[in-house]
Amino acid sequence: MSERQLFIRACWREEVERTPVWLMRQAGRYMRAYRRIRGRHSFLEMCKNPRIAAEVTLQPVERLGVDAAILFSDILVLVEAMGMRLEFHEGLGPRLSEPVRTPEGVHRLRVPDVERDLHYVMEAIKLARKKLRGRVPLIGFSGAPFTLASYVIEGRSSRSFRFTKEMMFSQPEAFCALMEKLTTAVIDYVNAQVDAGVQALQIFDSWAGCLAPQDYEQYVLPHMRRLFSEIEARGEVPVIHFANQAGTFLEKVRLAGGDVIGVDWRIPLDEAWRRVGYEVGIQGNLDPLALFAPLHEIERRVRDVLDRAASRPGHIFNLGHGVHKDTPEEKVVALVKMVKRLGAR
Ligand code: CP3
Repeated sequence: MSERQLFIRACWREEVERTPVWLMRQAGRYMRAYRRIRGRHSFLEMCKNPRIAAEVTLQPVERLGVDAAILFSDILVLVEAMGMRLEFHEGLGPRLSEPVRTPEGVHRLRVPDVERDLHYVMEAIKLARKKLRGRVPLIGFSGAPFTLASYVIEGRSSRSFRFTKEMMFSQPEAFCALMEKLTTAVIDYVNAQVDAGVQALQIFDSWAGCLAPQDYEQYVLPHMRRLFSEIEARGEVPVIHFANQAGTFLEKVRLAGGDVIGVDWRIPLDEAWRRVGYEVGIQGNLDPLALFAPLHEIERRVRDVLDRAASRPGHIFNLGHGVHKDTPEEKVVALVKMVKRLGAR
């Protein structure tokens, strides 16, 4: 079977000739070609212009030779489509105006008409598929409801999740109503992405790891189970469930759903896979900061990840989180080459 389906076949845990590789945040500021376009446009302008978004989606395919493209966009455009004002400030990250912290606030959020309100995303998907010409599959994505809820409630990235947990613990009904609305929006959004042409999906639960396992189980897991069960193309496109810093409750993450579980570097890959079970694939999990090390040290760590996967079908090589923006571009190029060489069967 063809090289281009390598990633999809690995997601389904079929035997492959070598371990496929792609990287979270593979399109971004570490790359000169990205910075050239970013110099002329704001980040949100880039997301909302289908021609630019498609072009940037292809940059890492051409520069790195990765085995999958991921749509260039952001998890927060969905929240913007629900009625919040979104801005990205240089060096500060995202800001959402009027964070939602009351039942009335939850009520005011609307479930978007994704085909209309996020039309530019669907256009970018169609254009990216055309430009890819079948070279590698295109991954679509969404933030998971809890990660999105944290932005909706905090209005920005947070370390303590003070307002999120305050709402979860003292207004559980309002928090649940928010999670339900977000879950419905995420389901509509990823279903529309599949209709537009994505060939795999990744759900990013970037901040799930801030929760105690029992709180994840009580306040998040039921919504995640609904999300995974209502993805219409279930069984047609593979779904990757990336739960960051969730090493203490991976069994619950697995219960939530997904054909592949994505893990960060804080847990050894073999231990993570054993705990989620070999009936699902595993994605990960090199520390993104390893790319600041000399090449021989990167190679030692790549070998370690591959050894832990032990050529078992269903491993997709990735970082444990996104590429850091200051990473030397040459190191990223070298990493992908290295994984392709060392991951050959
Ligand atoms: O992986 C890819 O290459 C696809 C594109 C992608 C981006 N963001 C581009 C981006 C994806 C899948 C995301 C998801 C995303 N966005 C997440 C979940 C993944 C994760 O990292 O945990 C989160 C939490 C966000 C929210 C977000 N967007 C933050 C916190 C920031 C600022 C961080 C920073 O590094 O400044 C962004 C901005 C962002 N999203 C950039 C890119 C390339 C940098 C924008 C720029 O050019 O200034």
